[in-house]
Formats: sequence, structure tokens, C-alpha cells
Amino acid sequence: MKPSVVLYKTLPDDLLQRLQNHFTVTQVSDLHPNTVLAHAKAFSEAEGLLGSSETVGPELLEKMPALRATSTISVGYDNFDVDALNARKVLLMHTPTALTETVADTLMALILSSARRVVEVAERVKKGEWTQGIGPDWFGTDVHHKTIGIVGMGRIGLALAQRAHLGFGMPVLYNARRQHKEAEERFNARHCSLDTLLQEADFVCSILPLTDETRHLFGAEQFSKMKKSAIFINAGRGPVVDEQALITALKNGDIHAAGLDVFEQEPLPVSSKLLKMPNVVALPHIGSATHETRYNMAATAVDNLIAALDGKVEKNCVNPQVL
Ligand code: GLV
Repeated sequence: MKPSVVLYKTLPDDLLQRLQNHFTVTQVSDLHPNTVLAHAKAFSEAEGLLGSSETVGPELLEKMPALRATSTISVGYDNFDVDALNARKVLLMHTPTALTETVADTLMALILSSARRVVEVAERVKKGEWTQGIGPDWFGTDVHHKTIGIVGMGRIGLALAQRAHLGFGMPVLYNARRQHKEAEERFNARHCSLDTLLQEADFVCSILPLTDETRHLFGAEQFSKMKKSAIFINAGRGPVVDEQALITALKNGDIHAAGLDVFEQEPLPVSSKLLKMPNVVALPHIGSATHETRYNMAATAVDNLIAALDGKVEKNCVNPQVL
């Protein structure tokens, strides 16, 4: 008999077929307690769980006594209670490599659009305000040859350093727990303290995962250390930033602008003050959101679950120690 799996995300037809070739699949819309109750038998029998963007904690695990592996269609896994999974010896699989280049592209889009005011001026053109030759009130600031500061030098940080340094001639500073030899050798990146990075970078780019250590890492003190001309970019996780402190820093002119793909609360409430600020580019968490990359992530997540439930985990596992 095939193992049972609960799927809480829509998959492309061919990937759903691949999943169904290996498992008996119950598809649900989400992991809300009412949904779990409505499909109690499927949840109680499932050995695998596949999806993204839902909280997986002790309450859910209690309803899934047969669970052996969970596979998220994301690189980030802050919505999983890893301790609870470890205690139950449930594997957690993720997609650390599938989205690297696409998220680095998104970061460059945020950098370019914030510095050159792309969204703001395009809106003005649509409103019919381009009625004569443009003057300084339409100008932005240069990106090329400015200093980029990358906070979090993992795969995505490296791909961003490549674009910034080789494509835009930007000196690269980075802050990370460990030195990154490849970034230093290939892109002349300089490892430095967070304070030095905040003081020297023209673009401060956060690509950090959300952990107890990184929550609200960027607050009033950090924004006050940045250059007044600095542009703050965040495409990691929203709660790494104290959003209220960011709003105050932008309002007071402590920093020049921000390009944000992630927020403390997502979807970003329409009442957010960030949406009223012309110097903020706000994107709806599109870091990896291209057809190609989302397909590759879903395919990786399906293969990860097949490998995990088959006892053949070789990569993409957050907690291999539970094996
Ligand atoms: C996106 O935010 C991801 O974690 O994959």
C-alpha cells in the first residue's frame, strides 16, 4: 500500500501525478484547525505533509501521529516548530538551491527601483504628469559603483554579490557569522561587523532567515547608524526588521529609501504607513515568484518528500539528525 500524504498547496498537474505515483494524496486548502478537523482521518494517517506558507507546530503534529516527513516549498522554514519536529523524529525538507538566482534578481530589482524611483516615476507617467522635459524632482541616485552591504552571506547573498560586483562595479561588504572565502575571492567582498557595514554601505541588504537571533535585528539604533543617503533593502524575512522603527527612520530622513519584499505582517495591511511613502518600494513577497522557479521549487519539494519517505535523504534536509 502506498503511504498517505496530505498536500496543502496546488501543484502543477505533472507534479501532482508524480506525487500520486508514490503516495495516496489528500489535497486540502490549508492547515487551519477546521480543515484538519474536516479531514481528520487523512491527517491522522498521513506519513507525509507537503505545502508552504502555513504554520506547522505541536497542535498540528498532535493530529498527525503517523507523520514521518514534511516538505516545504520554500527555503525558509521559520513557520515550522523544528524542536517539535525533532522531538517527534519528523524530517523537515526544504528547497535551498532552487530559488537562489531568482531571489538575487529580485534583490537587484529592489535596489534599482528604489534608487532610480522606478515605481514612483512610472506611476507619474501613467497619471499624465510627464508633460515636459523632466527636472531634478524626477531624478534618482546612482547604483553602479556604490557600496553594497549584504547582511547574511549564504547562497542568495553570494548571487547578489556576483550581480552587484561584476555587473555594477559595486564594492561588497558583508556581515555573516563566518567568513565566506568564495565571496572574498570572486567578488572581493570584505567581511565586517554589522556596525561597520551600516556605517559604510550605500545599500544595506538584508537576506536573513528569521530566527530568535535575527528577530528585530534592524531597529532604531541600526537605522540611526546608516548613512542618511542609505537605501535599506529586505528580501529575507519581515520580522527581522522592527517595521515601526523603519517607518520612523524613513519619516525622519535618517535613511533615504527602502525596497521591501517582506513584512512583519503578510499580506501587508493596506493601512500600513509604508504604503503612503513615495520612497518605499513594497512588493508582495515575490522573491522566488517566477513560473520557472516556483515550478522548480515544487518539483524539488515533491522529490524531497519521495526521498524522505523512502529513507533516501541525501540533501535538502533541515534536521538529518533525526534519522
Ligand atoms: C521564500 O520566502 C522562501 O522561503 O522560499
